[in-house]
Amino acid sequence: MPAQPEIRVLGTPSELFHAAADQLINQAVVKNGKFSVALSGGSTPKSLYSLLAGEKRNSVPWDKVYFFFGDERHVPPDHPDSNYRMANEAMFSKVPVRPENIFRIHAEQDAEQAALDYEQSLRTFFSLKPSGFPRFDLIFLGMGPDGHCASLFPGSPALKENRRLVVANWVEKFKTDRITMTFPVLNHAACVIFLTSGADKATMLHEVLENDKADLPCQKVRPVNGRLIWMVDKAAASGLSR
Ligand code: 6PG
Repeated sequence: MPAQPEIRVLGTPSELFHAAADQLINQAVVKNGKFSVALSGGSTPKSLYSLLAGEKRNSVPWDKVYFFFGDERHVPPDHPDSNYRMANEAMFSKVPVRPENIFRIHAEQDAEQAALDYEQSLRTFFSLKPSGFPRFDLIFLGMGPDGHCASLFPGSPALKENRRLVVANWVEKFKTDRITMTFPVLNHAACVIFLTSGADKATMLHEVLENDKADLPCQKVRPVNGRLIWMVDKAAASGLSR
């Protein structure tokens, strides 16, 4: 039975990103062995990544943290839209993380091939059996204005995927493929943290958290045997009734 979501409302964006950074650090420090984290893309987490590379740099156990991506745009790693490029500029390029600790989605190639390759890298890293799913220690997600997370967009084919770990997903509204982890991977995680900031997210956050008839992709993230934490700032939470 999935646990109830934990909702943490932080006063300001800065407090939100400090709380998120501390979650990663506290979980990584106590983990024996490798700590696996999947990063989200978009604009919100950039401040988190900068904070980890800056003020929190000396608290992160960089040698044991292994970085993955929940999704990627179908672009090369140096493209302005690349989630890898954003994380590299904000964090990786500024900290003593080893290249072998970073698992980039090779989205410069054919989207389906990129998905197959990434899926294989997960199977290898987590030593999975053929029908197994990886258990990430931590997955960060953002909430899109339409209620999507990762690149699991409303109405897109990947919403129904329950066998594959990573798929190419055609996103009609952008007329492009994305590469994304699937719900089974997200829901096998030990901890999923949604980071949501800003008044422009308030209406959708109310829908996701308080309208169980909404049928939104974010609502399908319910770790089967793990924690689900919504970390939101006051502006994003302004539409919540409780
Ligand atoms: C991406 C992200 C996506 C993002 C949401 C929120 O590749 O864009 O993975 O799921 O988290 O769209 O984006 P913002 O943080 O920019 O609002």
